[in-house]
Amino acid sequence: MWDLTRDHLPLHLTSLACRYGNIYRLNCGNTTMVVLSSSDIIREALVKKWSDFAGRPHSYTGDIVSGGGRSVSLGDYTEEWRTHRRLAHSALQRCVTESLQSVIQEQAVHLRQVLLDYKETPVDLSEDFTVAASNVITTLAFGKAYEKSSVELQRLQGCLNEIVSLWGSPWISALDSFPLLRKLPNPPFSRLLKEVARRDDLIRGHIEEFKTRGSENSITLTASLLKCLEPADTKTKATALTHVHVHMATVDLLIGGTETTAAWLCWAVAFLLHRPEVQNRVYEELCTVLEGRYPQYSDRHRLPYLRAVISEVLRLRPVAPLAVPHKAIRHSSIAGYFIPKNTVIIPNLFGAHHDPTVWKDPFSFRPERFLEGNGASLRSLLPFGGGARLCLGESVAKMELFLFTAYLLRDFQFQTADGSLPDLRGVATVVLKAKPFKVIARPRAE
Ligand code: HEM
Repeated sequence: MWDLTRDHLPLHLTSLACRYGNIYRLNCGNTTMVVLSSSDIIREALVKKWSDFAGRPHSYTGDIVSGGGRSVSLGDYTEEWRTHRRLAHSALQRCVTESLQSVIQEQAVHLRQVLLDYKETPVDLSEDFTVAASNVITTLAFGKAYEKSSVELQRLQGCLNEIVSLWGSPWISALDSFPLLRKLPNPPFSRLLKEVARRDDLIRGHIEEFKTRGSENSITLTASLLKCLEPADTKTKATALTHVHVHMATVDLLIGGTETTAAWLCWAVAFLLHRPEVQNRVYEELCTVLEGRYPQYSDRHRLPYLRAVISEVLRLRPVAPLAVPHKAIRHSSIAGYFIPKNTVIIPNLFGAHHDPTVWKDPFSFRPERFLEGNGASLRSLLPFGGGARLCLGESVAKMELFLFTAYLLRDFQFQTADGSLPDLRGVATVVLKAKPFKVIARPRAE
């Protein structure tokens, strides 16, 4: 148990892998966990044997934050979950095809203005990145974006962040392993219950407001999901989804799609401050290829160095460093070891991305590694997990990382505030975040 309360758990689990190998077992209360720390082993479990390891462990506190296990991210692998994921995925893909690029570009232009308004004063950009990422998701979901100062946005983000950080805290996870503790007063747990109730009120409010605006025919996630509440079979009146599913899919996309993208943008700026020559090389590539215009997502094929920078930041700082725990839904094996049903599997993506047998000089920021060789290294990059539980927002995230980074680096040169470089170790809860740092965004000459 103590092992799981370290301040940088991914780094700690990776150092255990150096001692015990890329597959080892941890006992936590009455739960057995198997930690996987190489790309090959993670692929074997998540992709090759996906149907054995597609489950999610059931937990007392997980049920509380996921509407009784009815979210896409925490729901166990059942027929109901498969329908939920399939419908949420097709609703999202429809938005990706129809509107995602213009939604991101609008937010990138807005972010540009925010940075210009700072007039080269040193600022912490993490909140602006959160607003941009959150606005992409709220526009896809409800057709609505918010100003940073908006009370509605602050309430929603404040509440979602609080839930993620409380749920990751040892005071709360102890309740899963030691049921007797549930009988004792636990102020963080009471706060969690309050925040979950607040979250549900806010999301319900958004969905109701969306309905009263009469936007049910728009191309938004909520419109597509609400359609799934209409009976598919008029005789039995059976519907594919319930209101709880629509509600929890919205929560999934807001939680999954905001802090991850925002944290990644902070990491990209942090690494580029450490290596200004990389930043300049991306700028030169953008100038040559775009000839002054703003990027489209289709330009990515002609911007290999920018793509390499994005991959390298994803490698060094996979923002969901331990993915989300999986569960063996039947007896199986991984790397020749027997894995009994119900074993919890932790895909240590951070460890796999620092495996010295795959990555030369694994702790260095070296985007060029993705331009060398035959692309084999891209196969070992697993920032979005894989198989049945592959990140639902992978295509949204990839377009966001590309367009936000391209827009930012086309227009600004990022410089340290007073010569002090950001810390690159970070703080790991569910999301791996950079410690707060200030940066100057200097506009590039037109
Ligand atoms: C840099 C950005 C992102 C990264 C690195 C990332 C990474 C991940 C990872 C590693 C998982 C767990 C996979 C597993 O359990 O094996 C995950 C799950 C998930 N992500 Fe993302 N993600 C990102 C952005 C997004 C976005 C933008 C959305 C929504 C629009 C999203 C929604 C989800 C959802 C709903 C799940 C749960 C999937 C399931 O359990 O079936 N993520 N993500």
